[in-house]
Amino acid sequence: MTALQKATSLRQQKGGRQIAALTAYDYPTARLLDECGVDVLLVGDSLGMVVLGFPDTTHVTLDHMLHHVAAVSRAKPKALIGDLPIHTYDTPAQALETARQLVAAGAEAVKLEGGIRQAEKVQAITAAGIPVIGHLGMLPQRVLEEGGYHKKGKTPEQIEFIREGAQALIDAGVYAIVFESIIPETARLLTESLTVPTIGIGCGNHHCDGEIAVVTDLLGSYPWFVPPFAKPEADIAGTTREAVARYISRVRGDR
Ligand code: KIV
Repeated sequence: MTALQKATSLRQQKGGRQIAALTAYDYPTARLLDECGVDVLLVGDSLGMVVLGFPDTTHVTLDHMLHHVAAVSRAKPKALIGDLPIHTYDTPAQALETARQLVAAGAEAVKLEGGIRQAEKVQAITAAGIPVIGHLGMLPQRVLEEGGYHKKGKTPEQIEFIREGAQALIDAGVYAIVFESIIPETARLLTESLTVPTIGIGCGNHHCDGEIAVVTDLLGSYPWFVPPFAKPEADIAGTTREAVARYISRVRGDR
C-alpha cells in the first residue's frame, strides 16, 4: 500500500475498530511493536524528553527527528508518522520542505501541532501528496508559553476553539487528529461530530476513535516522570535495575 492508501485506510477506520498507536524512537522497539500488531507508529518529538534527556519538546531539532525516523523506518512498520519539530514549520514553504525531509528519511506521513493557524501549512504538505495528522488540545511545543501541561476543552469557549481548529485542519486535508489532554466529555463530543478519526492521549478511555501512548509510559521504562494519565503495562525500569544488580554481583564475584 502507498502512504496515501494507508492514510485513506486509517481515515476509514473512523467509528470502527479502535486505532492502537504508539510512539517509537529506535529500530528494536519499533520492530517489536510492529510485530505485536500496533496499527501506527509515531516518531514523536517526545523523543526529546524520553530519549534525549531534554526537559521538553522545544529542544528537538529536525536532525534529531531525521536520525530517529530513519532508525524506526528500518523496522518497516505497517505505518510510520514523523513529528515536525518546533520552528520547522513556521511558514507553508518551510513546512513542506521539512515534511519532504522526514519522508526522505522514511516517514509516510507527518504530524504538526495547532489548529487554524496551521491550515495553510497542512494544505501545502497535502497538496504535495504527503499525508498529515493534526494535533489539538494540549500542545507540548507551547508548554513554555502555557506554563505547564494543562487539561483542555473545559469551557464552551475552549470547546469551540478546538472544534474550529479541527474543522480548519480537516478542510485543509488532515486524515486524523491527535487529541491531547482534552477532558473526556469534550473529546467524545468532538469525536462524534468530526469526519476524521481522533486519536487520544490523556483523554480517558474510549472517548476517541483510538489511543496513542508514549511507549516508555506504557513499558515503565522512564520512571523519572510518569504523566498522571499513563497506564503502565510493564516495569522495564524495575526489570533493568534487577538485571543490572545481578550482573554487578556476578562480575564482582559476590555470587
Ligand atoms: O511527541 C509525541 O509523542 C506525541 C504524542 C504525545 C502524541 O505527539
